[in-house]
Amino acid sequence: MQTKTAIKLLVLLALVSLLLPPSLLYAHGDKRPMKKGILLVAFGTTVPEAQISFDNIEQSVKKSLPGVPVYWSYTSRIIIKKMAKEGKHLATPAEALAKMMRENFTHVVVQSLHTAPGAEFHSMLKNVHKFAGMDKGIKKVLVGYPLMATSEDVQRVAEAIIKVIPKERKKKEGVVLVGHGTHHPANVYYAALAYHLQRLDSNVFLGALEGWPGIDDIKADLKKRRFKRVYLMPFMSVAGDHARNDMAGPGENSWKSILEKEGINCVVVLKGTAEFQEFVDIWVDHLRAAFEHFR
Ligand code: CO
Repeated sequence: MQTKTAIKLLVLLALVSLLLPPSLLYAHGDKRPMKKGILLVAFGTTVPEAQISFDNIEQSVKKSLPGVPVYWSYTSRIIIKKMAKEGKHLATPAEALAKMMRENFTHVVVQSLHTAPGAEFHSMLKNVHKFAGMDKGIKKVLVGYPLMATSEDVQRVAEAIIKVIPKERKKKEGVVLVGHGTHHPANVYYAALAYHLQRLDSNVFLGALEGWPGIDDIKADLKKRRFKRVYLMPFMSVAGDHARNDMAGPGENSWKSILEKEGINCVVVLKGTAEFQEFVDIWVDHLRAAFEHFR
């Protein structure tokens, strides 16, 4: 009789423990203090001059959230490989999070420094969430939006672009922003941004290297409007390889060469969006919005 009661009790206990959330079961095992951290995630660049952009972002982040440790990581495998050959080790988001886990961080905001929520952003999203809730690991991982996520962001980005166009550009001269573009559905952000830009200044155009609208569309628009001179500016976080070669390089396939062949004089501006405070503020606001959840 007594053994029967004991067995019944054990079965009951087992059932109850199954119903309890795991956090309660291990409650006595994790008394670590809350340790908050920031992980910045950039695509990466091999151009050393572009490092200014990253330094600028880090300074702004530290000013906005003083005392919170900031870590860096990069999503481009090609860039990580290239830099490794030069002896520079760049961490992937997963490597950086593993390090932060070892250093007892409990709450981490992963801030995307991408331009749109495209393929790079989504693959990062998938990976970093795997680091949340591991036993003795990071309890919570939140991801901050890239530069353009909401409709308000797109409007704000358009206004920022208008602000950073060189002052010497005359109103009748055209401006062509050259974005990266993507085969991911998020390429619609470029069309949305182009629409907002046109509403603010009908001489400002936005095209994409690997998406719609491409150089053929931009060329046709510029010819129709008979522009003699345009400012060519990258709409990418850093003025790296794409800006220096695909946008403004001497090769016949660069946007500069294609437009100049049509008699459109190009004034090249080699500055990435991350070099301008107007854009950095948007990324930092997204980071702060995610960070607020940890209070
Ligand atoms: Co690319």
